[in-house]
Amino acid sequence: MQLNLLVLPGDGIGAEVTREAVRVLERVAQRFSHTLKLSEGLLGGVAIHKTGNPFPDETARLADAADATLMGAVGLPEFDNAPPSERPERGLLGLRKVLGVYANLRPVRTHKALIDSSPLKNHLVEGTDMIIVRELTGGIYYGTPRGVSGSGDGERAVNTMTYTRAEIARIARMAFHLARQRRKKLASVDKSNVLECSQLWRKVVVEVASEFPDVALEHVLVDNCAMQLVLNPKRFDVVLTENMFGDILSDEGAVLAGSIGMLPSASIGDKKPSGAWVGLYEPVHGSAPDIAGQNKANPLGAIGSVAAMLEYSFGLAREAAAVHSAVEEVLNSGRVTADLKPAGAPATTGQVGQAVCAAI
Ligand code: IPM
Ligand code: MG
Repeated sequence: MQLNLLVLPGDGIGAEVTREAVRVLERVAQRFSHTLKLSEGLLGGVAIHKTGNPFPDETARLADAADATLMGAVGLPEFDNAPPSERPERGLLGLRKVLGVYANLRPVRTHKALIDSSPLKNHLVEGTDMIIVRELTGGIYYGTPRGVSGSGDGERAVNTMTYTRAEIARIARMAFHLARQRRKKLASVDKSNVLECSQLWRKVVVEVASEFPDVALEHVLVDNCAMQLVLNPKRFDVVLTENMFGDILSDEGAVLAGSIGMLPSASIGDKKPSGAWVGLYEPVHGSAPDIAGQNKANPLGAIGSVAAMLEYSFGLAREAAAVHSAVEEVLNSGRVTADLKPAGAPATTGQVGQAVCAAI
């Protein structure tokens, strides 16, 4: 099969981790006799530097032409004081919106070999296996009106959280389908004791639930969910939530996996006319400018994102499983990057990538 994909390394450690992820893809292609057709594009701060725009038209064109997109990370400290509309992050938000990838799947699993990498007690994290389903193209990230007006004491900023019934129903359906393939438990997270948006969310989730009588649904308020994630993470199977809550809770989930560098994500939209799912694959971590260019970053989040790409965009379950077991083997060997606090000397980004390739 031909795997036609766009790589957007982005900023900071994005270039290093996507390099290893692509290397793993090349190894998979060789081992399972697929051909890889790669194009590369600009997104984020590097795109601002080269074109003045965090999401150049050319990148949109390349993403549309590819069957799947692999993204590294976006964000640079030099833009810390820039308004949202001029920041590297705006490029990623534009890409998600243009691709229409409304469902962001963020699996959070504790690997046996990494139990001691989490600052939480072993008995709490051991056996954690959940997937956070984050709505990705709506809510407060995109709602209007937004902006700043006035001056002095009257200077005022506004953002708008907004959801339609259709937006909630489609992500809820996706989450229920996933739960059906897992332990059949779905926790829908909202703030319905305060927000109208969350009240509509809860109402629509309850309606969709009637199509899935075999899945047990519970509603959890987002503040309580933040607490439950570290008190009793094993109770969660599928966690369904809106855009900003999902952003926050998935960073918290990273603590359970040992390091945010471990977390992959898959952002899925509707099917293309060709029958393939539109997909954007990105590690959950950011651009980590403090360690960029030092060959220290953990590439396993990006490599896990490649496994998700093989599975969801190309339907290659065997290939995805080969990547997962290679990652497991590398974790068991203890040759991991510094963020995972290995007993011996930490491995470099490149060494971890090489080890995964060798294990495939
Ligand atoms: C994430 C990131 C992004 C988000 C940023 C970089 C815009 O934090 O994917 O979790 O907030 O969605
Ligand atoms: Mg985030």
